[in-house]
Amino acid sequence: MLRLKNPPISFFFAIFILIIFIFILSPGWVKTPAYESVKIDYMTKLMEKPTNLTEWKQRHYITSFLNKNREVRIYITAGDWYTYQDYLKLKFKHDETLANCDIPCIWQVKTLKDLRYKELRKADALLCVNQPNLPKKKAWNGQKFIQYTLEPTTHCPQCHDKNDLFDIRATFTEGSDVPTSYIRTDAEKWRIKTPFNVKKLSQNSPFISFVASHWTKFRQTFVKDLQDHIPVASFGKIHRNTEWKIYPECLKLGLFDAKNCVISKYPFYLSIENSQEDDYSTEKLWDAFDLGIVPVIWGAPNTRSYLPHPKSAIFINDFPDIETLAHYLKYLVKNETAYLEYHKWRTMEFTDEFKKKSYLSMYNFECNVCREVARLRIIEEHDDDIDT
Ligand SMILES: *[C@@H]1O[C@H](CO)[C@@H](O)[C@H](O)[C@H]1NC(C)=O
Ligand SMILES: *[C@@H]1O[C@H](CO)[C@@H](O)[C@H](O)[C@H]1NC(C)=O
Repeated sequence: MLRLKNPPISFFFAIFILIIFIFILSPGWVKTPAYESVKIDYMTKLMEKPTNLTEWKQRHYITSFLNKNREVRIYITAGDWYTYQDYLKLKFKHDETLANCDIPCIWQVKTLKDLRYKELRKADALLCVNQPNLPKKKAWNGQKFIQYTLEPTTHCPQCHDKNDLFDIRATFTEGSDVPTSYIRTDAEKWRIKTPFNVKKLSQNSPFISFVASHWTKFRQTFVKDLQDHIPVASFGKIHRNTEWKIYPECLKLGLFDAKNCVISKYPFYLSIENSQEDDYSTEKLWDAFDLGIVPVIWGAPNTRSYLPHPKSAIFINDFPDIETLAHYLKYLVKNETAYLEYHKWRTMEFTDEFKKKSYLSMYNFECNVCREVARLRIIEEHDDDIDT
């Protein structure tokens, strides 16, 4: 038998060239019937709307497989709050490619009026946060316009305008093309947060906090009524009764972290949303879990269905009146065992619905959008293949 001892470099090079030749020049050899039938199965799957986490992951896996490492380039033409976040920098490499995504995904902020046609043509999609800011027409047929909004319909009707400017919508609702929850961090890391130590509380100190920048009808009546029974430490623009400077260690932080720092000083946080719409739960809910405290909730009617565990939060609406709720909270801070029952979820398996919320989240938003653009591109190119 012929054996090559220390084959020369040119031998490997020849093999390499041969492989390249097979792949590039003879696609017919590579596209075996088996591959084609797998591809048809995959294409069918790609067109179905996922209903659960497994199906979402499957969609993303197939997209990445069929996308074959092709780049998706997204220009942000209306950034609003989105482009000002500090944590955004952490998500991108220096060349503005998203780290940790199975699609090579490039995000750049662009001023529409300075964008030359030639450059506009390079974009696979233009993304607008809340407000549309788009050229009169697309630079090419398959280009996508994306709207991203996490505002509730009641507060920003124009953000949910049902016009047909946009091909892809990313909103907090399950029904949108790229559902996006307000979860901003890796929820697996919430497990290791130490639960608030209720034994440290002094006799008459408040044990629930509240931060809001404007009144809503519910907040107005509820917070005032609650205060008739227990003290509420309020730090927001409205109804402030506690100064931030009592926690000097919090003042050193950026605004978002400073807020979380002060609310972490209390075992409960009043998580009262602006409005009650299905799936609308903001950082007012999710951050509490990350801080080792328990949220006291008023918000989306279906919140209970997507918590990490049914016993991870307290629902205002579960109580016949505010006084009963106040008594219960008072009881919990006096009985550590009972309080810690609201933290047991940290050691337990998360519910499937919660896992889905944390996968389809602000934390993974950019990659999920790129996957959607890639998915539509694959489907459209496949349709073109069939037509010709
Ligand atoms: C997800 O949904 C599909 C289709 O309804 C179902 O067959 C599958 O068992 C579900 N998976 C899980 C983990 O619930
Ligand atoms: C404290 O809470 C635990 C767990 O819920 C309960 O079994 C116990 O009876 C409570 N103790 C008192 C004094 O209420």
